[in-house]
Amino acid sequence: MKITLVAGARPNFIKIAPLIRAIEQEQQAGSPIDYRLVHTGQHYDDRLSKIFFEHLNIPDPHVNLGAGSGTQAEQTARIMVAFEKDLREHPCDMVVVVGDVNSTMACTIVAKKMMVPVAHVEGGIRSFDMTMPEEINRIVTDSIADFFFTTSRVAGENLRKAGIGEERIFFVGNTMIDTLLTSLPRTQQPELWRKHNLKVGQYLVLTLHRPSNVDEPERFASIMDTIDTSAGMEVIFPIHPRTQKNFDGLSRKPSHIKPCEPLSYLEFIYLLQHARGIITDSGGVQEETTVLGIPCVTMRSSTERPETVTWGTNEIVGDQLDALGHAMKSMQQGTWKKGSIPELWDGKAAGRIIRQIIKLLR
Ligand code: UD1
Ligand code: UDP
Repeated sequence: MKITLVAGARPNFIKIAPLIRAIEQEQQAGSPIDYRLVHTGQHYDDRLSKIFFEHLNIPDPHVNLGAGSGTQAEQTARIMVAFEKDLREHPCDMVVVVGDVNSTMACTIVAKKMMVPVAHVEGGIRSFDMTMPEEINRIVTDSIADFFFTTSRVAGENLRKAGIGEERIFFVGNTMIDTLLTSLPRTQQPELWRKHNLKVGQYLVLTLHRPSNVDEPERFASIMDTIDTSAGMEVIFPIHPRTQKNFDGLSRKPSHIKPCEPLSYLEFIYLLQHARGIITDSGGVQEETTVLGIPCVTMRSSTERPETVTWGTNEIVGDQLDALGHAMKSMQQGTWKKGSIPELWDGKAAGRIIRQIIKLLR
């Protein structure tokens, strides 16, 4: 009973860590399940890849396909060509993909054309924003995958509306939250804490990497200006490599915003845990702040994770900069809504997934 597990980008590594732990537990209990870990190489900088393997105790991948960066088509095509060869040389009973990045879609297409069943962890979420490359990845992946492990009831509804039968949908919870909950006792204070003399609850965190926010220099500069002038406290900004060039090109250097390189997971979660609030366009950060109960402003016009708004501490401000400024004021005044934790985000999702996969493959 062999599965091939695919991961390619930063958030994927965080999602697969508990799956591998759950496989190891089932093996110890005598299950015949085994896995091959394929890293597509979509992310390759140590700070986006290697450090996550080290800090989350993820074993070295069996192969790195070395796909690297490029246009959407170049990257997707390189992953497909390399994965097809790898899957031919290393047949398996099921391919398991996670999330919504190009690696997720590319490997799903390859596996299905080679008649290998595919399970999608985090299936069914939708932003209904077709300008996002991730939304295209989600729709393509979910239209051909065989089994869906969902993080919310809304995701299951989206799949049913697309005609997917009940017997293929499994509401299991959220592997990203599995990793968060197991990592909380091990978080690490980043060096910048002392450098900037940070104090609990007296700084903000910022992450931005969506093309719609960071690729166009003028739009990016006006977001930076708004945040800098509304902050009233230091804003720690671990910069995703996609965002670096336009940050370096800013004509007015922000005074409150303190840039740094991407942080390790254990450092980043430490920073989130103790922050007054977060401004982000990340998918995973919306979920983590909901579980941590930290105010989160999302710089997007929609979210594929609506439970973080209806249950959690997330607010969507779209592309309205005055709404962003207003939200930041509310963070400073401490008048942010209190959230609650979405159903089944209990740290046990990966075990449910692996036990179900074993049943499906029996
Ligand atoms: C990708 C995913 C996005 C996810 C994000 C997580 C797609 C379409 N996008 O976006 O859904 O939220 O990862 O972080 O799959 N770069 C480096 N070093 C690296 C990787 C990238 O410098 O290790 C730079 C390159 O200039 C590259 C750019 O970042 O062109 C974008 O990388 P890419 O993987 O294409 O997309 P992300 O923006 O990282
Ligand atoms: N993250 C991290 N270091 C950072 C920024 C983010 O470890 O400097 C983590 C964060 O905690 C979350 C994940 O990276 O678990 C989110 O990844 P990203 O925002 O790149 O992708 P998305 O979730 O938007 O697809």
